[in-house]
Amino acid sequence: MATDEQQIGALMNQPRFPRSAMYDAQWMIDHNMGPNAVWMTEALCDVMPIKPGMRVLDLGCGKALSSIFLAREFGAAVWATDLWISATDNWHRICEAKLEDRVFPIHAEAHSLPYADGFFDAVVSIDAYHYFGTDDLYLGGHLAKLVKPGGRIGIVIPGLTRDLPETLPRHLQPMWDPKECFSFHTAAWWRRHWEKTETVEIEVADVIEDGWRHWLDFEYAKKEAGAQRFDDEVGVLEADRGQYLGLIRMVAKRRSE
Ligand SMILES: C[S@@+](CC[C@H](N)C(=O)[O-])C[C@H]1O[C@@H](n2cnc3c(N)ncnc32)[C@H](O)[C@@H]1O
Repeated sequence: MATDEQQIGALMNQPRFPRSAMYDAQWMIDHNMGPNAVWMTEALCDVMPIKPGMRVLDLGCGKALSSIFLAREFGAAVWATDLWISATDNWHRICEAKLEDRVFPIHAEAHSLPYADGFFDAVVSIDAYHYFGTDDLYLGGHLAKLVKPGGRIGIVIPGLTRDLPETLPRHLQPMWDPKECFSFHTAAWWRRHWEKTETVEIEVADVIEDGWRHWLDFEYAKKEAGAQRFDDEVGVLEADRGQYLGLIRMVAKRRSE
C-alpha cells in the first residue's frame, strides 16, 4: 500500500505543470490559501510572457508562493502585495527561498496601492481578483494605470464554466458561501467586465482545461496531508465535475492613452 507521502507525491506531481513539479509538495500545501497557487501561476504563464528583469505586481499574493515562482522561474522582480498576510510573514518565506534581491513584500489594500503610475511591466493576480475586482470601477480607476501602456494584466480565479440557473443547483449548496461565491463569474462575464472599461485589450478569457480536476487533486493532497480547510469543497467538486465550477484565466494588454 502506498504511504501518505507517496499518495501526496502522486497527486502533486502533475505532468501538466512541469515547473511546479520541481517545488516541494509540502511547501505548497503548508502555505496554501485555496487551490494550488503555483499551478495556477504556471497555467497563467503559459499564455502570458514574463521575462527576466520585468517589474511585476503580484496582487493578493497571499503567502507569496506565486511571487516566489515568478521570480525563480522567469527572473522577474516581484512586488508581493497582500492585505490579510503581513509583509513580515512573507519576508520570512522570501528569505527562505533566497530571493531577497527580487521579491519585495508589501502590505496594502487593493484600492490604495503605494505605486507610481506606469511602474509595472505586468500585473499578476492569483485566486484574489474576485475579492475586489468585480467593482465596475476597479480596473479602470485603480489598477490599469499602474501598468505601463502595452503591459499585461493576468489573473486566475475560481469561477463559473456556465451561467448559474435562477435557483442554485443543489449540489453546489454545501460550499456556496453567499459572502464569497456570488463573485464567481464566467469567462464571458469577465471579458465584458474588462472590455467595457476601454482601458485594456483582451488577449485571453478562458476556462483552464481540467482546472476543476487540478483544484480537486490539490484538495485530495491537502486532505492526505491533514491540511484541508474546507471539507465541503471535495464533495462539491466531485459532484460538479466541471459542470459549473472551474478556474477562469484572463490576460489583457493595457491600451495606450
Ligand atoms: C484566497 S487568498 C489567495 C492568496 C494567494 N494568491 C494564493 O493563491 O494562495 C486571497 C487573497 O486575496 C487578498 N485580498 C483580498 N482582498 C484584498 C484587498 N482588498 N486588497 C488586497 N488583497 C486582498 C487576501 O489578502 C488573500 O491573501
